[in-house]
Amino acid sequence: MIVDLTGPLFSSLEAATKEYKEAKAAGDSGKARKKALECSRIMKILAEKVPAQKQAYLERAGKWERNADNVGNAIQARKAATPGKASGKSGAGRERGEGRSGSGSGNTGNSEIEKEDELLTYAESLISKSNVRWNDIGGLSEVKHLMKETIAIAGLQKPASIKPWKGIMLFGPPGTGKTLLAAAAAGSLDATFFDIKADKVLSKYFGESSKMISALYGAARKHSPSIVFIDEFDAISLSREGDTSESSRRLLSSLLSELDGLQDKKSDKLMLTLAATNTPWDMDPAVLSRFPRRIKVPLPDETASREIIKLHIKDLDYSKLDLDSLAETCIEKLYSGRDLQNLCQQAIWNMVRGENRDLDSLADLPYKELKERQLKVTSLNFDYFEAAFEKIRSPLTKAELEKYDKWNEEFGG
Ligand SMILES: Nc1ncnc2c1ncn2[C@@H]1O[C@H](COP(=O)(O)OP(=O)(O)OP(=O)(O)O)[C@@H](O)[C@H]1O
Ligand SMILES: [Mg+2]
Repeated sequence: MIVDLTGPLFSSLEAATKEYKEAKAAGDSGKARKKALECSRIMKILAEKVPAQKQAYLERAGKWERNADNVGNAIQARKAATPGKASGKSGAGRERGEGRSGSGSGNTGNSEIEKEDELLTYAESLISKSNVRWNDIGGLSEVKHLMKETIAIAGLQKPASIKPWKGIMLFGPPGTGKTLLAAAAAGSLDATFFDIKADKVLSKYFGESSKMISALYGAARKHSPSIVFIDEFDAISLSREGDTSESSRRLLSSLLSELDGLQDKKSDKLMLTLAATNTPWDMDPAVLSRFPRRIKVPLPDETASREIIKLHIKDLDYSKLDLDSLAETCIEKLYSGRDLQNLCQQAIWNMVRGENRDLDSLADLPYKELKERQLKVTSLNFDYFEAAFEKIRSPLTKAELEKYDKWNEEFGG
């Protein structure tokens, strides 16, 4: 996959850009020039590695070369403008291109390309690879069915008037498998997975969030098929009333226009935006209208709970367990998939402790010797789970669950 080839290059680019900026800020034009040339060299390698983007990368390589030429001037100009620092000993005068008449706009251009590269690098760094498959998800068959349908329609050849959904919003209580579903969609398609926590992007690029969104969708387009997963979507899509953050408003409007663009553009590139939230009722109506597909991801029912438990204990002997009665208790306790996973972990841990009383003394052994030994395991029984039930508590109440149902009746679909 392209991502694997270019990943280290983007890391080097990020490092070189950072060092360039630091050197520039410190007035070290020699080092800044060297770093700019390094960025240019990385861009040229990228141009070879990603033929589809060759031209764009070569252009950036050229811009970095111009940066290298101009950085001495820029530093000199800044020093001249700062009283008392006019004659720094950075050796700027020896820089190539120093003698040229630097145009004022050169500097603006410089910082713009630096910013663009930083955003591009950041967007690329959000790429992750998903190994999750639909079968790793217990229950949720209806949700999986809807998502698979959407993906199939988006991918298939079709008449122009059949427009696939470009975005799906997943809503539901915490821990019900929303992130897992998005990962499964990407994993099964072998698509590039952009895993984004909305508020993290917002705080990192405060004030530039709309450029960030363009960079993100640019990268998604480049690496299609892509799944852009925006987690904690409520962080950027709160109803506008009462939301005073200008930055979040800007981020939202550029996101909405990207989504509209996806819908309108006739393209055979598969790009799907999945958004997840625990609080759909806080959502801005403008956002909702861009996500006509709103799918509720519910707490697991009895069958689903059984399936999820099985998934989390699958390589142990559970023949002595009455899964039906376990699942029944889990429903009474309002357990989510995450609670079920924690329950299984806790029960397994209880079993492991019971069977291996000497664990802490074993930790004194050298690693090589430890590796030779086998952890003792036995079949799981109800006692291990009974003790685990005491520890795992659902944070949800029936009233909260009803709120999801009500919202679903009114806005879901
Ligand atoms: N349907 C499921 N099948 C198997 N495992 C599940 C399921 N739902 C949840 N889990 C387990 O719980 C963990 C948390 O699930 P996930 O992160 O997908 O929940 P979420 O709905 O995104 O939660 P949040 O709203 O808090 O982000 C998963 O990593 C997985 O181990
Ligand atoms: Mg999640």
